[in-house]
Amino acid sequence: MKEQLKNIQNVAEGAIKEAQSMQELEQIRIKYLGKKGELTAVLRGMKDLSNEERPVVGKIANEVRAAIEGALDAAKNEMKQKEKNLRLMNETIDVTMPGKAKALGHKHPLTMVLDEIKDIFMGMGFKIAEGPEVDTVYHNFDALNAPKNHPSRDLTDTFYITDDLLLRTQTSTVQIRTMKKSKPPIKIISPGRCFRSDELDATHSPMFHQIEGLVVDKNITMADLKGTLDLFAKQLFGIGTKTKFRPHHFPFTEPSAEVDVTCFKCNGEGCRVCKGSGWIEILGCGMVHPNVLKECGINPEEYSGFAFGMGLDRITMLKYGIDDIRLLFENDMRFINQF
Ligand code: DAH
Repeated sequence: MKEQLKNIQNVAEGAIKEAQSMQELEQIRIKYLGKKGELTAVLRGMKDLSNEERPVVGKIANEVRAAIEGALDAAKNEMKQKEKNLRLMNETIDVTMPGKAKALGHKHPLTMVLDEIKDIFMGMGFKIAEGPEVDTVYHNFDALNAPKNHPSRDLTDTFYITDDLLLRTQTSTVQIRTMKKSKPPIKIISPGRCFRSDELDATHSPMFHQIEGLVVDKNITMADLKGTLDLFAKQLFGIGTKTKFRPHHFPFTEPSAEVDVTCFKCNGEGCRVCKGSGWIEILGCGMVHPNVLKECGINPEEYSGFAFGMGLDRITMLKYGIDDIRLLFENDMRFINQF
């Protein structure tokens, strides 16, 4: 019986050494020390022993039980420690590892130039006004003194939604809306999208951007127009920039002019950007036509005003040497990130 007990101890201790998990250890405990366990079975046989033998074997049995329990506890502790170390190792953060870079957005070149232009005019006391992209024939043509047979009214030039509604072809619509809802003095610029049914190519896009300007007050003259736009050009393109006002025609201004600036690439010497002329056309302007003032409820005997309109896409392309307008609308980050 003593042999049997020693044998149980050896086999149990061997199994404990081999065990790989807590569950295995628990199974070993049940197998040897449990109610139906091997040690318990041996102890049951003790009743058949003689009175002298019983305490001796009993003592050994207690030692064997204590030894197996001790080995189980030790193995459990060791296993817990191992599991803890493993968990800590997995949770370790390498603080020296380089971070994952998040791709940041980038201001679009159109936004950059628009911000610059807004800053310049706001510095001169202009406010920003906005108008809808879907507007009426009245705001886009009639109120702006466009003759009924004006070619820009054609279906081939203008996107009509109904007979009376269209996608605005110019931001000049905002002149009308502003004059109708506010009294002079008025001093606004109005940036926004415009639409014309142009075929898309390197210099034309059916959707493009304009910035409109309008000043109405008492005693506004052509000198105010020239001074304002000359200062604007110098701030946007450089202090050495000169401006040239060429007579032109717009239905909503009289007199009207187109403004050229000395080429900022070659300073007027003539280069590829200005096609050799030394000058670049940047906007249209003029004194607000008395018919337009009247239509908006402003007395042309008392008030006068000037207006101007420029293409933001064209100015951005000139400023950054972009030779295809389509690049502005493709939103390819490889293009946008260059600015
Ligand atoms: N609306 C004109 C266009 O689209 C631009 C323009 C010219 C606006 C002269 C004006 C202006 O306010 O006075 O071509």
